[in-house]
Amino acid sequence: IEQTYIMVKPDGVQRGLVGEIISRFEKKGFKLTGLKLFQCPKDLAEEHYKDLKAKPFFPKLIDYITSGPVVCMAWEGVGVVASARKLIGSTDPLQAEPGTIRGDLAVQTGRNVVHGSDSPENGKREIALWFNENEINQWTPAQAPWLRE
Ligand code: GTP
Ligand code: MG
Repeated sequence: IEQTYIMVKPDGVQRGLVGEIISRFEKKGFKLTGLKLFQCPKDLAEEHYKDLKAKPFFPKLIDYITSGPVVCMAWEGVGVVASARKLIGSTDPLQAEPGTIRGDLAVQTGRNVVHGSDSPENGKREIALWFNENEINQWTPAQAPWLRE
């Protein structure tokens, strides 16, 4: 089953949006398999965003992600990667649709409150990067038969 790495960025934590953001994925019906509050070291931030290394905003992005604790999450479900990206909304919160996390809760790309993996491959890669194996929990939610026929 597909897995995605979701992270409340430091602005989301500082603004008290952790519960709100977790709720959106929880209510949708995806399964939480990993969760922690974590101060990201610089080398991990650089590895996570390595595809953006050449961008002019890269140093600012690394400063932002390491500026305070983040909330790291692993979520599992059929189609979770693309669905989570839809729940999160466009990179620029001013372009993000109302009803999405960024559309409802943010105003600027450089403070867009949450991250979501952009492919199933990156979901796997990022969960392995941010979590130890023993921090990922397999369990069967009681609601499972009421979510999928
Ligand atoms: P993530 O879920 O965080 O990966 O966002 P994304 O997939 O919607 O966007 P992308 O991977 O292209 O960029 C990663 C992050 O870099 C964004 O979420 C922003 O926080 C930041 N970023 C992207 N473009 C810009 C930009 O033009 N300026 C600034 N300041 N930050 C940017
Ligand atoms: Mg991205």
